[in-house]
Amino acid sequence: MKNIDWKHLPFQYSKTDYNVRCYYQDGKWGELELSSSEFVELHMASTCLHYGQEIFEGLKAYRGTDGKIRLFRIEENWKRMQRSAKGIMMQSPPFEIFEKAIITAVKKNKEYVPPHGTGATLYIRPLLIGLGPEVGVRPARDYLFMVFVTPVGPYFKDGFNPVDVMICRDFDRAAPLGTGAYKVGGNYAASLLSLKIAHDGGFATSLYLDAKEKKYIDEAGPANFFGIKNNTYITPLSKSILPSITNMSLMALAEDMGLKVERRPVGVDELDSFEEVGACGTAAVITPIRKIVDTDNNKFYDYSNDNKPGPISTQLYEHLVAVQFGDEEDKHGWVRILD
Ligand code: PLP
Ligand code: COI
Repeated sequence: MKNIDWKHLPFQYSKTDYNVRCYYQDGKWGELELSSSEFVELHMASTCLHYGQEIFEGLKAYRGTDGKIRLFRIEENWKRMQRSAKGIMMQSPPFEIFEKAIITAVKKNKEYVPPHGTGATLYIRPLLIGLGPEVGVRPARDYLFMVFVTPVGPYFKDGFNPVDVMICRDFDRAAPLGTGAYKVGGNYAASLLSLKIAHDGGFATSLYLDAKEKKYIDEAGPANFFGIKNNTYITPLSKSILPSITNMSLMALAEDMGLKVERRPVGVDELDSFEEVGACGTAAVITPIRKIVDTDNNKFYDYSNDNKPGPISTQLYEHLVAVQFGDEEDKHGWVRILD
């Protein structure tokens, strides 16, 4: 195991020993290549540099109490990468290549998978880019699929502790029929300015509304949104949000816990009625929300609960991480143990 201060890791890039690459050229995928370089050589007319042909994924490797390394729902990340690729006309790797690249990247860097109980995990970042040369607006012919890994702590620095978020009315991250449901780099570029404004105001992230009417909740920066009331887990249904694998898993766990689950438009005017609200995602896990501020309307919604996460969010969080780290039976078959 590497000598790293695991307990105080930020959610930030740090170098590991290897990454994995695979090129799509002349209409086919090549062999996986192991690399120890952190750099990529690109043609300056690559479509990823000009026309935003870039998609990525995010998942994690978890070290269990038994010392074994686990991956969570990797098939779902692959399916989403396929959908993102189709959405912006890219070639994407078949499951075998996706899976082998991830497993190789994790195993070759296994000393960077944080020890159990430190709260840290190994973040896995698969990415796919269009290569050049093209200058007209059209999809690339060649592609590079890569996987790198980096040990991380919680995304929102407080971890499983309530944060404040700010409703964003001046910006949209994605248009109703745009690329919001795909994990394309451009969506994140579109979010940077509003995130900066939110951060400068002391908020963990901005809460996006539907771009058309500004009436419904879309998502919470790089995470989905959920609310809880009357023993029901409620999460927005919207074409412009990223279908979160964490959220999908929480919906299943909520049902296991006997909660009702509703996936439907969630109006801003409903915020008053929630008992608990939170953000969820691979990086964010569950981040409880303490306060939602709507500056433009001079309103705020308070869920503070003595500054502690709400009881249902806590149970959901505990279940999810227990499955991910192998402390609880994996009855949905979500976890892959690496040998
Ligand atoms: N929404 C956005 C915009 C994201 O970037 C992410 C992170 O991947 C999520 C939601 C959460 O998705 P997942 O739970 O699959 O990580
Ligand atoms: C994730 O949760 O995996 C993300 O991709 C969020 C963010 C770091 C982009």
